[in-house]
Formats: sequence, C-alpha cells, structure tokens
Amino acid sequence: MSLKEKIEQRTARIGVIGLGYVGLPLAVEFSRAGFDVTGFDVDAAKVDALNAGRSYIGDVKAEDIAAQVMAGKLRATTDMSTLKQIDAVDICVPTPLRKTKDPDMSFVVAAAEQIAKYLHPGMLVVLESTTYPGTTAEVLQPMFEATGLKVGHDFYLAFSPERVDPANEKFTTRNTPKVIGGTTPACSEVATALYATAIDTVVPVTSTQVAEMVKLLENTFRAVNIGLVNELALMCHRMNINVWEVIEAAGTKPFGFMPFYPGPGLGGHCIPIDPFYLSWKARQSGFECRFIELAGQINGSMPLFVVERISEALNTRKQAINGSRVHVFGVAYKKDVSDMRESPALDIIELLHRRGALVSYTDPYVPTLELEHGQLNLTSIAECEAGPDIDCAVICTNHTAFNYKAIPGRFPLVVDSRNALKNIDAENVFRL
Ligand SMILES: NC(=O)c1ccc[n+]([C@@H]2O[C@H](COP(=O)([O-])OP(=O)(O)OC[C@H]3O[C@@H](n4cnc5c(N)ncnc54)[C@H](O)[C@@H]3O)[C@@H](O)[C@H]2O)c1
Repeated sequence: MSLKEKIEQRTARIGVIGLGYVGLPLAVEFSRAGFDVTGFDVDAAKVDALNAGRSYIGDVKAEDIAAQVMAGKLRATTDMSTLKQIDAVDICVPTPLRKTKDPDMSFVVAAAEQIAKYLHPGMLVVLESTTYPGTTAEVLQPMFEATGLKVGHDFYLAFSPERVDPANEKFTTRNTPKVIGGTTPACSEVATALYATAIDTVVPVTSTQVAEMVKLLENTFRAVNIGLVNELALMCHRMNINVWEVIEAAGTKPFGFMPFYPGPGLGGHCIPIDPFYLSWKARQSGFECRFIELAGQINGSMPLFVVERISEALNTRKQAINGSRVHVFGVAYKKDVSDMRESPALDIIELLHRRGALVSYTDPYVPTLELEHGQLNLTSIAECEAGPDIDCAVICTNHTAFNYKAIPGRFPLVVDSRNALKNIDAENVFRL
C-alpha cells in the first residue's frame, strides 16, 4: 500500500523526533487525527512524562495526552531503532546559535543520522525545526540519499515550518495554517496529504527553500519591527515623549499600520535567533542583511537601557544601583509562559548584579534561577513577600498573575519595561 493510501486510511505510523514546545503538540494532534504516533526524545524525563499522561508544556493539556496514551494511539521512547516501523517522521529538535552567531545544526544532524540508519522505501521525512534556506536540500537530502534510496522515488522529503505561539489561546497547532514545501512534487503531495489530516489549512509552496525562507521572513519581520519600536522608545525617551501613547494612537489607523511594542529586549527560541540563521546563509552568497544586524544591535541593547532607567529612577532619590535592593517582576521571556530561553530579564539581573545591586525576583512560572555560571542562584519569592526594604521594583515580564494596581503603592520606585501599569498615573513609575 502506498504512503498516501496509508495516510488516507489513518494506518500510517507517525514519528515525531523532539518532544518540546513544537513536537509535543504536533504528536498529540496527529494522534487525535487518528494515527498511531510515537514520539522520540533523548530526554528520558519527557518520554516518561508523556507515557504517564503528564504534560510539561503549558499549551498542551495533560488530559489530551492521557486520552491518547490510554487509547494506545500515542507513546514515547528514547529508542531510535523504533524508527524502522515509522512511515512518516517529523523532526522538531532545537536549532540554536553558537556563541559566534553561527547556526548550530548538531541536533538536526544527530536526528537525521538516526533517520538515515532506519530510512526505508516509502518513508516520509519532514523537517520542522527553524533553519536557514537550503538545509533540507544541502544537509538532509545528501545524508538520506547516501543510503542508496532516491528522494521523490524511494522516499519523500519536505520542510514545514512550525508557527507555534506559546500561550496563544486563539491560534494553536491545529488552526494555524501550515506551509509545506517538498523536495519534489511527489514529496509535496504526500506531505500535504499528511498534514491536511491534522491541520485545518495547509499552504503548499514549490520548494523546501521557499518554505524555509517563509519562516525566516516571518521571524525577521517581527525582529525588525520590534527593533524599530525599540529605537523609537530610545528616541522618545530623549525627546521626552511617551512612546506608548504614540503607538496606541498610531494603532487607531485602520489600514497600513500594525502596532509593535518596545520592551526589555527579545527573548525565546525564535525571534532573537532565527534571523541570524538567514544572515549567516546570505553572507555565503556575498549578501549582508543590514536590517537584521541593525535590529539585532538595537534589540540587544534594550536590557542595558532598562538598567539605565533603573539607575535614573534611583538617582531621583540620591541612590546608586550599587547596594540597592532591586526586585524583578517576571523573568520568563514572555507573559504567562515558563520558557526563559534568551529572556532579557536574565541579562538585566546579571547587569544589576555586576553593578552591586541586591536582586530578588517573583515569577510564578520560574521557581529558581541559576545565573553568572552558577555564581548567582536565586529563588522566586511570592509577590506579597517582596518586602518594604526594596528600593526599586522592575517589571520585566507582564504576567497576568501580578497585582499591578498594588505595585506603585508598595515600592518607592517602579521601572515598567512593558507598560503593564498603563492606566496607573503615579510619580514613582518610570516607563521605558
Ligand atoms: N518554541 C517555539 O515557540 C517555536 C516556534 C516555532 C518554531 N520553533 C522551532 O522548532 C524547533 C524546536 O523548538 P522547541 O521550542 O520545540 O525546542 P525544545 O527544546 O522545546 O524541544 C526540542 C526537543 O528535542 C529533543 N532533542 C534534542 N536532540 C534530539 C535528538 N537528537 N533526538 C531526539 N530528541 C532530541 C530535546 O530533548 C527537546 O525535548 C526549533 O528549531 C525552534 O526554533 C520553536
């Protein structure tokens, strides 16, 4: 039976490699679409949690995992040899940057090496990890074809970028349109048929390179626009204009404007990282991505600007950062999530610590923090425990759980990097 027929009849066995923010919801969605799904991860704790019907990702409900596990449709393993029984596999492993801002492809290559070992006729492989244009054709295809099997004839290969937006209640894996580009038309056809079973809208494009570039355009668009409003915030501060009021008023234009907001800097696994995958690759063709570099510089300077605002706030009371008690509200990279990857709050805490501040923090999603290579270990305290000895509070992440109305009255100084105290007019509040 062909893979397409197996997909139509839901008898195709699906594999998902990397059970993180992207892979776990995808595995659950394929399972709910009626397939038998096996998740693969090198992290035994995640494998055990999934098999026990527990969730470790905020957007995935434990009961949804448990229902599929109990029905015998979903399981996880660290044993990669199970790949030989899989008909279609998705790669959802990390794609970080090296310190030099070069792509770190080691996770993708490690996953592909495992697949190559067990690649068999009729198998479909889809890369979902965000990466530079050309990865599927230049890295994966040669590894798989070295087995003697030919793409488009013996096996299928495609790229489909993940668009998951953690904590977004409206758009989830199922109702976020999914772009797919196959190596050959046959690859596109099979991959599109598979995703159409689990995703409401599938958007086929003509090549893996286009699909790879789509994702990088989306994330570069955000990085550059955030860079623009962050520069506007720096400019407005010098000119003594309220940048938040400017953006809110501009946002009333019903066409041709889309509001982006300044903040303490970029965080998360995508926006601060992905554009550099593109600039790295473009440089190989002799092209310098100036917008990406500029946005990176401006966004990267924001934590220092927040520290400057703290310094200015303390200065109004003839205090210095050195020796002051500074309490940080929110250390996750965005509202209502526990993900701290690349969070600007971590930079802010380190900058404050190096300047001699005594830093404490509250984050209901992040119980402990290890910073400065293990030299600075902090434990989140309850909001009500942040005591009267605090000199300055800083809102780094605007979690819904914080009692914003009470904050200006409880601390002598407040620096608000998110405009979380938008409707509160108090003299001790310093906005970005
Ligand atoms: N998190 C997001 O919001 C998001 C959104 C869109 C795209 N992406 C992209 O999706 C990819 C995955 O991101 P994520 O946030 O899900 O990462 P993650 O770190 O949450 O999950 C990745 C998982 O892969 C596992 N893993 C690593 N190497 C492995 C290997 N060789 N074999 C099996 N498992 C392995 C890790 O243990 C981890 O559980 C990245 O390329 C990322 O840029 C992420």
